Amino acid sequence: MNVHDSEKMSGIFSESGCSQSDDINNADVIVLNTCSIRDKAEQKFYSKLGRLRKIKEKRPELKVAVAGCIAQQKGDTLFKNFPYVDFVFGPNNIDNLQSWIESSDVERRTLDDKKNKTLDARRSTAIQDNPDYHNKLLPVKREGQVRAWVSIMYGCDNFCAYCVVPYTRGRERSRPIRDIRHELIGLASEGFKEVTLLGQNVNSYGKKLNDNIDFPDLLKELHEVDGITRIRFVTSHPKDLSDKLIQTMKDFPKLCNHIHLPLQAGSDKVLSLMNRRYTYGDYKEKVNMLKQAIPDIAITSDIIVGFPGEDDGDFKMTLNALKEIQYDGLFAFKYSKRPDTKALDLPDHISEDIKSVRLDKVLKLQEEITFDKNIKLEGEILEVLVEGVSESDKSRMTGRTGNNKIVNFNGTEEDIGNLVTIKILKAMQHSLFGERVQESRVHGFQV
Ligand code: 5AD
Ligand code: SF4
Repeated sequence: MNVHDSEKMSGIFSESGCSQSDDINNADVIVLNTCSIRDKAEQKFYSKLGRLRKIKEKRPELKVAVAGCIAQQKGDTLFKNFPYVDFVFGPNNIDNLQSWIESSDVERRTLDDKKNKTLDARRSTAIQDNPDYHNKLLPVKREGQVRAWVSIMYGCDNFCAYCVVPYTRGRERSRPIRDIRHELIGLASEGFKEVTLLGQNVNSYGKKLNDNIDFPDLLKELHEVDGITRIRFVTSHPKDLSDKLIQTMKDFPKLCNHIHLPLQAGSDKVLSLMNRRYTYGDYKEKVNMLKQAIPDIAITSDIIVGFPGEDDGDFKMTLNALKEIQYDGLFAFKYSKRPDTKALDLPDHISEDIKSVRLDKVLKLQEEITFDKNIKLEGEILEVLVEGVSESDKSRMTGRTGNNKIVNFNGTEEDIGNLVTIKILKAMQHSLFGERVQESRVHGFQV
């Protein structure tokens, strides 16, 4: 979501006639788009921001803006510790960047005229409620040429006990279906082939819209857009995953056979403390339904270890869950204390040492599972949407299967944007290597 927010900021800069600099020392404006989901992300930001002090001292005309969730939370208190910051704007106020660019241009001219202008006069913040943000059509400068992110909703109403997002991104709001559809039509005309629909909880899309449309309805509508051959979405909250969504994924071939369905923990006690509003049994039932309806579905998940109150027995339940469910991929994190969240007040916080040991165990177990799953794909013939040159080996092309496995193969740049048929020759930990085969040999895969 943050990456896509940055694309929106780039879009606004582009429309204002600015171009992206690849050298921080040449930039007229530096925007740090921040994440505050865990403390580590926050600390990384402070260290980056600290390093900008020297650059600003050398070039006082440089503008520094702080965007994203930390900006939203800290507001103008950031100016106190970092007096060289000029603009602070939150994730629901990206549209304010436009007017800031215009006004700071004016300010800059003034500054050039009167060198003695104080820094304070130029500072501004945009962290206020922006109730119409979801209806705004922002320009987007996308990073790729094949796959595109598309926001379908903003904010979250779930208030999981560990999570800062409802406090930084605000209440859940869905974009109108016609705006999303138009965006997809535009993307198709630009040559994009795949979209990933973004929301903190896509399964509650449309709840507050008046047109009686839910997430599966949105998917069906978007399925009609010619030129877009694959549709993905993140993230699904397990409690809102409906039979209708499973059926829609099964029936509509452009919907990729992959779902990111964060479990967070395997123990019902911990899930309840987390305010996730499902039990492991409920979750398992949904996974079984998904696997039954779509046998080759890939399921990935998020896990938090060391949530307050998680004892050894609870943690074992998480390991058991991973063994049972056999995820295709996993993001695992140590619980991190976040401001404002309910979990701060829970008893029995876990030491960092125990969290580290638990995280290692989870990652190690999942590595084995992922690798085993990849090995099973050796010899399979899969359809791959080619995205570009492989980062790890510039002589190869890279792409993904519908169920999100990364596949590298010997191809050419002319393959970019095409669906190619690949026989998997070798499985690695995080990707597959294969060779191109005749189209007619594809089996069991989607458009
Ligand atoms: N500590 C650790 N992980 C967290 N996540 C969200 N908040 C926290 C936190 N305070 C994880 C969850 C979520 C993912 C995006 O980040 O697993 O699904
Ligand atoms: Fe955070 Fe829970 Fe909302 Fe996801 S569903 S953004 S974890 S509060």
